[in-house]
Amino acid sequence: MTSDFDALRHLLNRMSGLSLDAEKAYLIESRLTPIVQRTGLSDLNALVRRLLSGCYPELVREAVEAMTTNETFFFRDRTPFDNFRKVTIPQLLEARKQVRSLRIWCAACSTGQEPYSLAMILDEEAQKLSGWRIDILATDLSRNVIAAAREGLYTQFEMQRGLPISQLLRYFSQEGDRWRINEHMRSRVRFEEFNLLSSYAELGRFDVIFCRNVLIYFDVPTRQDILNRMAKLLAPDGCLVLGATETVIGLCDVFVPDEKNRGMNVLRASQPPRPPLMLAAG
Ligand SMILES: C[S@@+](CC[C@H](N)C(=O)[O-])C[C@H]1O[C@@H](n2cnc3c(N)ncnc32)[C@H](O)[C@@H]1O
Repeated sequence: MTSDFDALRHLLNRMSGLSLDAEKAYLIESRLTPIVQRTGLSDLNALVRRLLSGCYPELVREAVEAMTTNETFFFRDRTPFDNFRKVTIPQLLEARKQVRSLRIWCAACSTGQEPYSLAMILDEEAQKLSGWRIDILATDLSRNVIAAAREGLYTQFEMQRGLPISQLLRYFSQEGDRWRINEHMRSRVRFEEFNLLSSYAELGRFDVIFCRNVLIYFDVPTRQDILNRMAKLLAPDGCLVLGATETVIGLCDVFVPDEKNRGMNVLRASQPPRPPLMLAAG
């Protein structure tokens, strides 16, 4: 069975990038046991054999999703959102005044609190952005969290984590014991299933990428690969925002941390010149 577990760890890693060392057997067991129960299989070994057989792609997808950690909340860590409002938006307002267009990618958005936090900020700055085209693409590997994000319905507990009361009253309405984000905000964010290991060729170019609290789950080569590929999508004056415990230092020399603004990373000025910003449709 040990070799089956190793094969499963490798399968999960290949499908999602999640780095699960041998000590994570307990985690795999606790996350996959509900699938054993739902499918009526005899035990975890039977599930593992089925996952490894190559005949159950939907079951593999379900197992991969079960292994993801979807912890998130509105305005998480606050500073990146303050920076977005006070630093990034003013800079881009000036730099993009001819094209009047902004593209933002939330690259592992979980149940939507992060992109909706950005959408709320952009709405509050709407006067300055009048007539601008703003595209917020929010993606995640997990079909379940993308469905929840599109639904935009949050529990009282989720609302209490980070969301100021003024924004709650302005952007949400109560439905029973839950809160729904209003249609205007919902229509500002485009949610798509997307695996960070897959090709970025169809995504277009971005001014800002939020990729927060996901690289920590990957091994070093996977982090490096993702950072290098994200750099190719960013406008030369764009910025990448990572989670509070994540850094580009020692991983990739394409980005440099912005000394003045914690968590923000900008492309190194010595990058070779790239073609002008292409604005993707949609
Ligand atoms: C801890 S949440 C972070 C959510 C949000 N960015 C935040 O900081 O609050 C990590 C998310 O990464 C997603 N994820 C894990 N592996 C992924 C992959 N290979 N591609 C895309 N998303 C992935 C998970 O499904 C999960 O929703």
